[in-house]
Amino acid sequence: MKRAIISDIHANLEALEAVLDDIAAQGMDDVYCLGDIVGYGPNPRECIDRVMGLGLSILGNHDQGALYDPEGFSSGAERAIFWTRDQLEMDCGDPAQQAKRWEFLSELPRTHREGPFTFVHGSVRNPLSEYVFPEDVHNFRKLERIFALIDRYAFQGHTHVPGIFTEDGRFFSPDEVASRYPLPGNKMMVNVGSVGQPRDGDPRACYVVLTDAQLEFRRVPYPVEKTMTKIHAVPELDPFLADRLQEGR
Ligand SMILES: [Fe+2]
Repeated sequence: MKRAIISDIHANLEALEAVLDDIAAQGMDDVYCLGDIVGYGPNPRECIDRVMGLGLSILGNHDQGALYDPEGFSSGAERAIFWTRDQLEMDCGDPAQQAKRWEFLSELPRTHREGPFTFVHGSVRNPLSEYVFPEDVHNFRKLERIFALIDRYAFQGHTHVPGIFTEDGRFFSPDEVASRYPLPGNKMMVNVGSVGQPRDGDPRACYVVLTDAQLEFRRVPYPVEKTMTKIHAVPELDPFLADRLQEGR
């Protein structure tokens, strides 16, 4: 079984297409998405249309924000999510597809368990909105409580910072493990990084390939300038949302 796990696309179509091409070139049995298909980026409809065809998707806080009232969003993120909702409500001449998108978003699960694997957007403790950052290795109580809820392997996104948390309170960035980590192993939490808005200083799209023997973090270049130009053309999207793509922050 060879599976790709992607997350935090954030309506970045160029990044998503580059990742899906990379996935297709390797011949994957399945592709799972851990949420935040929309929000921040310029192509929410197109990204939803592509993700709808994948094996499984989890609800992200931005997907939830587009469906209902956004909670705890910064003003820039809130403006982006209201613009996103407008894009999804706008008449684009295909009411059936439009209805399908809303139905798809509203039916996304918050958690998916499969054998030793749990898939969430934020954390197993609070699937929709808890952040687990690398710095949390200094908050042993927090990690201990989350790990107590993990059967074996938890896969998540949300922070846009890829890496592996081990139960003994360590964090490994992809660079620190040469992008690969062997399986089977002890309990761990894996952040698969972000396709459409990486924040670990590397602007390339990030995702994980999971097999029975290992997990591998992959980085895929995409035409960042093209996405930036699209964001700059939308007044409701803060220019910072474009600029940060270039630096991966
Ligand atoms: Fe996100």
